[in-house]
Amino acid sequence: MKRHPILRGLSSEHHHGLVMARRLRLAHEDGGPETLRLIAEAFLQFQEDDLKGHFREEEEVLLPFLAGYTSPEDAMIARTLVEHVRIRQAAMSLRAHLESEDDLSEIAGETGHLLERHIRFEERELFPHIEQAVTEPGLAEMARLLEPDRRACRLRPASS
Ligand SMILES: [Fe+2]
Ligand SMILES: [Fe+2]
Repeated sequence: MKRHPILRGLSSEHHHGLVMARRLRLAHEDGGPETLRLIAEAFLQFQEDDLKGHFREEEEVLLPFLAGYTSPEDAMIARTLVEHVRIRQAAMSLRAHLESEDDLSEIAGETGHLLERHIRFEERELFPHIEQAVTEPGLAEMARLLEPDRRACRLRPASS
């Protein structure tokens, strides 16, 4: 599917998210404890470096902007927010399992599944909905709001 240029940055981040989701699911299917530990750490780093900023842009710019064209009660807005909470909750649980040295297999599989399903939903339903609902001048205005945020994300110091 051809993505509107304004949404391409977020879409390319989705690609990295899908790679991470696949690694979590594979580790769940046949990874030993050491592989699971490494992938859990890699996911938490990915969450810190990429996912937090990505979710923030969607929540602070994309969704409120879409709500202006549809409604704050738009079911796709609600679904996006609920899934963000689920993924954050899974990440919290993954961190807790890692810290207490519990078996990571189930929570790794669940986190991967939630992340993959969420990205597929945004690519197949939410983004086409935005492209359809928001006018071309509206999309240009959204780009203006997205860009300072994206620059700020890139400029923030890398976490150690
Ligand atoms: Fe999202
Ligand atoms: Fe997204």
